[in-house]
Amino acid sequence: MCGIFGYVGPRTNGAELVLEGLKALEYRGYDSWGVAAVPLSFRPPSRNPKDKKWIPGQARDDKKTIIVKKKTGKIGGASVADIPASSLALGHTRWATHGGVTQVNAHPHADCSGSIALVHNGIFENYEEIKRALLKKGHRFISETDTEVAVHLIEEYAKKLAFPKAVRRAFMEMKGFNAIIAMRADKQEFVVARNGSPLVVGFGKGENFLASDPAALLPHTKNVHFLEDGEMAIVSPDNVRIIEAKTGHAVSVRIQTLTWSAGQAEKGNYSFFMLKEIYEQPGVIKMITKTGAAQADKLARTVRSSYGTYMVGCGTAAYAGIAGSYLFSKIAHRHVNCAIGSEFGYALDFLGPKSLVIALSQSGETMDLLEGVKKAKTKGARVIALVNVFGSSLYRLSDEPILIGAGPEKAVASTKAFVGILSHLVLLSFALAGEAKKGQKLLHQAAKSVDDVLGEASVKRLKALAAALKDTDHIYVIGRGLSYPASLETALKIKEISYIHAEGMAAGELKHGPLALVTQGTPCIAFLPNDETYGANLAGAMEMGARGGMIVGISYKPHEIFDHFIPVLDAGEATIIPNVVVGQLLAYYLTIEKGLDPDMPRNLAKSVTVK
Ligand code: AGP
Repeated sequence: MCGIFGYVGPRTNGAELVLEGLKALEYRGYDSWGVAAVPLSFRPPSRNPKDKKWIPGQARDDKKTIIVKKKTGKIGGASVADIPASSLALGHTRWATHGGVTQVNAHPHADCSGSIALVHNGIFENYEEIKRALLKKGHRFISETDTEVAVHLIEEYAKKLAFPKAVRRAFMEMKGFNAIIAMRADKQEFVVARNGSPLVVGFGKGENFLASDPAALLPHTKNVHFLEDGEMAIVSPDNVRIIEAKTGHAVSVRIQTLTWSAGQAEKGNYSFFMLKEIYEQPGVIKMITKTGAAQADKLARTVRSSYGTYMVGCGTAAYAGIAGSYLFSKIAHRHVNCAIGSEFGYALDFLGPKSLVIALSQSGETMDLLEGVKKAKTKGARVIALVNVFGSSLYRLSDEPILIGAGPEKAVASTKAFVGILSHLVLLSFALAGEAKKGQKLLHQAAKSVDDVLGEASVKRLKALAAALKDTDHIYVIGRGLSYPASLETALKIKEISYIHAEGMAAGELKHGPLALVTQGTPCIAFLPNDETYGANLAGAMEMGARGGMIVGISYKPHEIFDHFIPVLDAGEATIIPNVVVGQLLAYYLTIEKGLDPDMPRNLAKSVTVK
């Protein structure tokens, strides 16, 4: 849950390149940031062979210390102009785990001498006992982090071992899921190790890059090597060596080509990524309608031949799985089990080689999901990933990855990836029912309906609703059937970015407890699509209205009990898609009304790579 970026090569603006990389990665963690750079000498490096002091391929720093700049808060308009010219630089955006959000706790961390710097993603589980041993050896610690222990451990081993070996030995002692990048002032190279947390090497011409997310590499290169768990890399300007951390044996480099373009990962004319991504949704649905049918057919065959299908995901992706279970039941008359990624590992004892796990994820790096999927694989289950990021951990772990195809999603609140998953699941359900064409037709309608929700009149209504609700403390959202996951997702979007407490629930559950919370003026949002749930859900809205609730009806037709009516054109079983887009826009405008940043909500990060 952090962004990492590194540069090694002939350019001398290393710190700036890293800062730009960090800006592109900030959605991965944004409570603090830092850049470390090995300054070139006080004179530029010479390639003159007579210059005895200059060793080709090595950075030149007479003082042999690394310059580190760290700050709390978001990067914003920060500059690294005060960092000297450098051809070896490394940076990190933090999402705090061990130690509060302070400048000292921000990464990179340095050893006692200031000549080794390190950034880390993950949790170093046994750091306390190692810290005690290092303290006895005289190491001085200044932060409360687990990360700082790693750099001192490397320093300790580097007294006797070559630097890559010292990093390897230290890394092998670190328990937990971790990725580290270390650099030393006197050598122009990074030593990198990964176990569980994502790291990608980007190949340039006479220069190389490192990042925790391939999207950050796009302005520089599309050629990458995704480090596998247990792999290390030694990265210099014109060489990348991959080794197995356990044995030290060489592993061949597997270059893959990224398919996204740099422009896709930019905000363009939108004020926030979230708004851009919301507006990209009709295009995403249309594209999946066109290209997803063949995949859906193939996946349908796999589902048919499996004995038990499980959909697993976290947060928004878990809600997509719940929606999938209704779609499977309604359209294909098939049962599917849904599980939350973090709970899946506790409920999979009955999986076997004929079981099928469909793992849903935007990032493909969600630790809770990856852990469950790994356990399922040990039971012999087949894993299909419906994932948005090419080459991500889940993509590589699965037996068969299917790309969602939503393009880079950078706002912390997932929007187009969710709608992308839903679109694939609609196609899959109809393919299972042998009615693939009908699925495509409904998705066409859904795209039109989303266009309508995003149109001027609808946005005006949603802005007015947001203005009316912005000071409320609680919002309740109800739905039945496919509108139940729509309610959960709408409530998650609202709480995640506007910080208003919102609860999504099955409307039938109201009278089993939550109705006690509804008093005069309590905002209650009800999804009332044109399906079999309409009557019963309307009854729920009425029960809330009768207790003074302020009723927001999201429906294909108005009703007298609505205090606010948000029309949504019917798209059959795919109506959940435009319904959810209403929820996304409402959450967005509530956040704007409150003057908050929808892209980087407090305490959260885009990629949840810790447990
Ligand atoms: C969605 O708005 C959230 N930020 C979060 O619930 C997210 O969906 C969840 O962390 C799963 O992420 P993934 O899709 O990348 O696996």
